[in-house]
Amino acid sequence: MIPPGPTASRPRQTIRWIYRPGAMLEDCRRRYGDMFTLRIAHEGTWVFLAHPDMVKQVFTGDPRVLHAGEANVVVRPFLGSNSVLLLDEAAHMSQRKLMLPSFHGERMRGYEQVMAEVAAAEIDSWPAGQPYAVRPAMQRITLEVIMRTVFGVQDETRRERLREMLSNLLEWGTNPSRMAMLATLGPDRIGRLRMFQKVRAPADELIYEEIRSRRAAPDLEERDDVLSLLLQARHEDGSPMTDEELRDELMTLLVAGHETTASSLAWAVERSVRTPGVLDRLRDGDDDYVDAVCKETLRLRPILALVLRRLTEPMEIGGVELPAGVNLAPCIYLVHRRSDIYPEPHAFRPERFLERPAGTYTWIPFGGGVRRCLGASFALFEMKVVLRELVARLELSAADARPERIMRRAITLVPERGGEVVVARRATAPAARMRAAA
Ligand code: HEM
Repeated sequence: MIPPGPTASRPRQTIRWIYRPGAMLEDCRRRYGDMFTLRIAHEGTWVFLAHPDMVKQVFTGDPRVLHAGEANVVVRPFLGSNSVLLLDEAAHMSQRKLMLPSFHGERMRGYEQVMAEVAAAEIDSWPAGQPYAVRPAMQRITLEVIMRTVFGVQDETRRERLREMLSNLLEWGTNPSRMAMLATLGPDRIGRLRMFQKVRAPADELIYEEIRSRRAAPDLEERDDVLSLLLQARHEDGSPMTDEELRDELMTLLVAGHETTASSLAWAVERSVRTPGVLDRLRDGDDDYVDAVCKETLRLRPILALVLRRLTEPMEIGGVELPAGVNLAPCIYLVHRRSDIYPEPHAFRPERFLERPAGTYTWIPFGGGVRRCLGASFALFEMKVVLRELVARLELSAADARPERIMRRAITLVPERGGEVVVARRATAPAARMRAAA
């Protein structure tokens, strides 16, 4: 059976989904309950799940029945067919196992200094005394951090070239008219378009160059960037990753990792400057509190509203038998706004995560199960480092007292004015001073 949902035509549902996703989801839950169906553009049928028990069923379910890779094909022209995001079943697990060790929580500490330096340099360039949107600046930070810690490019001239080529490619993908083209033509035809190949080829060339020179680097074993670790990883049969696999995973990490983290940081700023006391407590530097601010940001303003799993066989969820072919959509946005789990769900209250730890099926900004975001520890760690640098260096206030609405940028949900603040430089920058002393 297909659960109930709005009866408006597919194009009308699509338009509302594009322009007012939050309101649409909340309306549907009020009207139809914790399981409902939307029909969006070429995306087939999406069955939304807004109850933690249903989410648990999906995240712990059989990966042969619940395909995530198949549901993500739209990004194939950018990521390539070896991408961990696009694979399913055995091929997915084998790729994921190669990558997991590079993103282990403990390893992140090694990136702290680079992250802090990149953040400090960027933050020090922000203009004082005038409205300033932080999201693009955060994106410069997260892109630079990925180029250094994931790609491991040390040479500034090479980084400069790579930065330019990657920005062109990523910009191509987020341009709204190209998004429409992607939706109409489908990923395979886009991949063959000359105008697309013209932006992808130069980026690929640089990445392949980097892979080849790193393979031959005499200090490969001492390096701690993700590319160097992946070059040393081995498949179960003992073979190394091919250059194509490495290229595709580097692009995957870049695309999955930099805008998401940057937009989450912009939301952290947008919410913090409008909630009395948060900036002062952040400045006190208690790690648990900084962590709670990041978690509460990702709860109230998740960057992705849902994750997807395509059913390859019928499956019973919450007592309803769903047919093969539908896309299940565990709904991050709605689960995070349940008042039975989060009292006063619309309030930004980091303390809630000091009082009670985040639950596996109730706090799901990074999805879950065998598809859970590989970069979750990386992203949380980077958010904390950047926020610390920010409050140590700047006094921040909202450029406009009105909260920023949630706006869509490609598939992510971002603050409509980019997290606009007015900054004033602080006389002392304690975090930076401590680092210099160390
Ligand atoms: C705040 C920042 C981020 C958010 C909100 C986020 C969110 C997500 C979500 C919702 C998924 C899908 C999970 C699922 O289907 O269950 C995902 C997958 C993924 N993310 Fe992230 N992500 C973030 C940052 C990063 C970073 C920094 C990286 C790497 C550097 C990364 C790499 C990946 C990869 C490789 C996958 C695919 C995992 C798989 O299919 O096995 N993400 N992310």
